[in-house]
Amino acid sequence: MGYKKASIYFLSGTGNSYRVAIWLQQECLRRNIPSAVIPINLADPKTEIEAASDQLVVLAYPTHGLLPPWSAIKFLFKLPFRRRTHFFCIPTRGIVRIGRFIIPGIAGVASMLPSFLLPLKGYHVRGSLSLDMPANMTSVMPSLRQKDIARIIADSKRRAGRYYTRLLAGKSIWFTRNNLWEYTWGTLLLVFFPLFPILYLLLGRFFMGKMMFANSDCIGCGKCARACPNNAILMKGKNNPKPYWKYNCEDCLRCMNYCEYRAVEAGHSWAVILYFIGTFSLSAYIFQFIAQYFPQIDYLKNFYTLEIVNAVYYYPAYFIAYLIFFEMIRWKPLNALFTWTTLTHFFKRYHEPETKLEDLLQKSEGYEDS
Ligand SMILES: Cc1cc2nc3c(=O)[nH]c(=O)nc-3n(C[C@H](O)[C@H](O)[C@H](O)COP(=O)(O)O)c2cc1C
Repeated sequence: MGYKKASIYFLSGTGNSYRVAIWLQQECLRRNIPSAVIPINLADPKTEIEAASDQLVVLAYPTHGLLPPWSAIKFLFKLPFRRRTHFFCIPTRGIVRIGRFIIPGIAGVASMLPSFLLPLKGYHVRGSLSLDMPANMTSVMPSLRQKDIARIIADSKRRAGRYYTRLLAGKSIWFTRNNLWEYTWGTLLLVFFPLFPILYLLLGRFFMGKMMFANSDCIGCGKCARACPNNAILMKGKNNPKPYWKYNCEDCLRCMNYCEYRAVEAGHSWAVILYFIGTFSLSAYIFQFIAQYFPQIDYLKNFYTLEIVNAVYYYPAYFIAYLIFFEMIRWKPLNALFTWTTLTHFFKRYHEPETKLEDLLQKSEGYEDS
């Protein structure tokens, strides 16, 4: 069978997922399949997707904590109901290097979730392909070396090419070693830590966003705020505006890795303070209080449920703490203190080498070209 049209959606912090989307578009162009590569925040799926088995819809996105980022999950939920339209997902995952060892990433639930969700909306899911790209977690580790980055991307491009050929020839991509790897990790996670996804989406990603701050090299240009895919950065302050990260930050790290002044940091010393703020936990008392009236809930008490209840405390506590922190770092000596006590100040930044920031902010239409 031949596809008549491909809508390739992407969410990408640092360009990896954008790049794998572009490789697919190039393969479409070679086969004269009209295609467009569309960032999900500019997408209009209701008009872009028709119900037809010769339509291919693809979503490429990074893996965050073995899950798709929340904005990708929301996008999947909002996709219109379309019977028979083909769907394929491409989570990218981060390869890291420890000494001489190159460790592949794990997409886990990020690879599985769309395959379970989309059939409920009528789509005919064609499988999934997770692709290893260089890890972009520069809030916790430095970027890989250029040589490794180039090799990882070249390997991935080769692999993607093989699978894209099969996909565009109408074949499904389910029974691969790669999917076995992902489904094994995903299942283990859900069996042994079933509440992990909720905890990550409810707390983990917010905590990371609240680590971000601008060092004194920030000139207040606001590029990070304009480029944020979630509109999660506010430029606060009239005379000397500085970025302020809101709770809807997903930690995609675009701001950090595309800032040309290297002004965006994740504060490690600040994270230690946040950790201690987090230890004034109220959840045990809340549980005890509720258990007086509903003793049945006592057996639900464990690390995860306590943390979920803790959200009641964490949200306002971190909100207030971050407001205070934001005012503190406006004072140069304190800004210097937090800047020199975070490892990110010394970490190399990463973004996919061929991807410019502007690429991530626009649709690359190809429907008319072919
Ligand atoms: C907050 C965060 C969490 C991540 N979690 C995972 C993970 O669980 N597994 C993995 O393989 N890679 C993980 N990564 C790495 C990215 O998924 C990977 O580098 C991806 O290719 C980045 O794509 P992008 O440049 O399109 O944003 C994580 C990255 C970030 C920033």
